[in-house]
Formats: sequence, C-alpha cells, structure tokens
Amino acid sequence: MRNYHNLRSHAVLFVLVLVWSILLGGGMAGVLRAAETPQSPNSETLVAIGTIDPIPERYQTGLKLYLENCSSCHVALPPEVMPTQTWETLLLEPEQHYGQRLEQIPRPFIFIVWNYLRTFSRPLGEDEQTPFRVTESRYFKALHPRVDLPPTLTAAGCISCHPGARDYNYRRLTPEWEDSP
Ligand code: HEC
Ligand code: HEC
Repeated sequence: MRNYHNLRSHAVLFVLVLVWSILLGGGMAGVLRAAETPQSPNSETLVAIGTIDPIPERYQTGLKLYLENCSSCHVALPPEVMPTQTWETLLLEPEQHYGQRLEQIPRPFIFIVWNYLRTFSRPLGEDEQTPFRVTESRYFKALHPRVDLPPTLTAAGCISCHPGARDYNYRRLTPEWEDSP
C-alpha cells in the first residue's frame, strides 16, 4: 500500500515537471511576454502596488529570490522606481549589465522574480524611452517630490538618505529628511 502510494506521487510529480518543461519551451522572451497579460486586479494587489508596504504572501518568494540575486553588488532597488520594461530587459540581458556579466537566474526562479517585479512596477508611457538609470526614470522622480536629486545619483547613493536601504527599507529616512516639512 505504502509503495503504491509513493509511486503514484512520483508519477504526479513527473507529469508536473513535464508540463512545466513544455510550458517553458517557448524561449525566455516569449514566456516573459506571455506572462505579461494583465491580471485582473484584486484588493490584495491594489493595496501593495506603488508602495513599499508589506508584500502579499504570494509574492514573498519572488521578493526573496530578487533580493538573493540582485542585492550582492549594490542595494536592491524597489520595482516601483523603474518601469516594467526596464526590469524585463535587465532580466533578459544579464550578460550586459552595466559593463558586468551576470549569471542568468535559472528557470523557473527567473519567472518568479519577474512576477514580483512586473506586479510592483508600472509600464512605460507611449513614446517614452526605457530608462536604465534612476535619474532618467519618471517613476523615481515621482516618488521624490521633495527632493532635488543629484544628477549623478546611482544605487550607491540611496543609503545617504535611506539608512535602511541595505535591508530593503525605503520608508525609513535620515532624521534630516524625516523632520523636514
Ligand atoms: C555582479 C554584480 C551585480 C549584480 C549581481 C547585479 N548588479 Fe545591478 N549593477 C551592477 C553594476 C556594476 C552597476 C552599475 C553601477 C554604477 O555605475 O553605478 C549596476 C547597476 C544597476 C542598476 C542601475 C541603477 C542606477 O540607476 O544607477 C539597476 C537598475 C540594476 N543594477 C539592477 C540589477 C538587478 C535587477 C539585478 C539582479 C538581476 C542586479 N542589478 C544584479 C552590478 C551588479
Ligand atoms: C537626497 C536624499 C535621497 C536620496 C539620495 C534618495 N532618496 Fe528616496 N526618498 C527620499 C525622501 C525625502 C523620500 C520621501 C518622499 C519625499 O519627501 O520626496 C524618499 C522616498 C523614496 C521612496 C518611496 C518610499 C515610500 O514607500 O513611500 C522610494 C521607493 C525611494 N525613496 C527609493 C530611493 C532609491 C532606490 C534611492 C537610490 C537610487 C533613493 N531613494 C535615493 C530621499 C532620498
């Protein structure tokens, strides 16, 4: 009885893996694009989009994998600061990452990261160029209404105003900013 049970669960696993591989067969770009069909918004996602508020449970794995893969050389930038197209290109072209070669995030993890990044970023406007620097991103500017941002700002500079940037906390500000009107 017990053996039979084991076999059956193996068979189920095998079929799942098979379906998964077929689904992934269409090439990375194709699959990312297919995954882009807008989801019907529900209250859970609406609450979290556009803020650095707690991430709903089902995006936690994506967030964790994002931090694992994208915070070793610089602080991880929150998806909200760049349009969706920027994240898509960065995931698809790891071999040309600002003069560095990154390892591609293996499947299926890359899709889980993508699902997190696309859910918490917004699409580029029509006729807009994809920005690859926060200083060129309209979303980054919109999140900083009070700040006169230096034109040379990069990921290395976030920490000067966001002391929690290494812990992915962009809510916390230095006292100087916290206290100003
Ligand atoms: C091997 C080191 C390394 C890893 C890992 C890495 N990056 Fe980078 N990243 C860099 C370097 C180097 C720069 C350019 C630094 C500079 O000029 O300020 C950069 C810059 C960036 C920028 C531009 C920030 C700005 O406005 O200046 C973004 C966005 C970015 N990386 C996203 C990512 C994402 C997403 C991942 C994970 C898939 C990732 N990085 C992983 C090295 C890395
Ligand atoms: C010169 C100080 C300064 C620098 C540098 C800076 N920020 Fe900010 N940031 C702020 C302030 C102040 C706010 C609050 C909004 C405002 O008052 O304009 C803010 C707000 C934010 C928010 C919105 C937080 C929320 O949930 O409401 C995000 C996200 C953010 N910053 C990300 C970044 C990132 C990423 C970097 C580095 C690329 C960065 N910031 C660099 C000062 C700064």
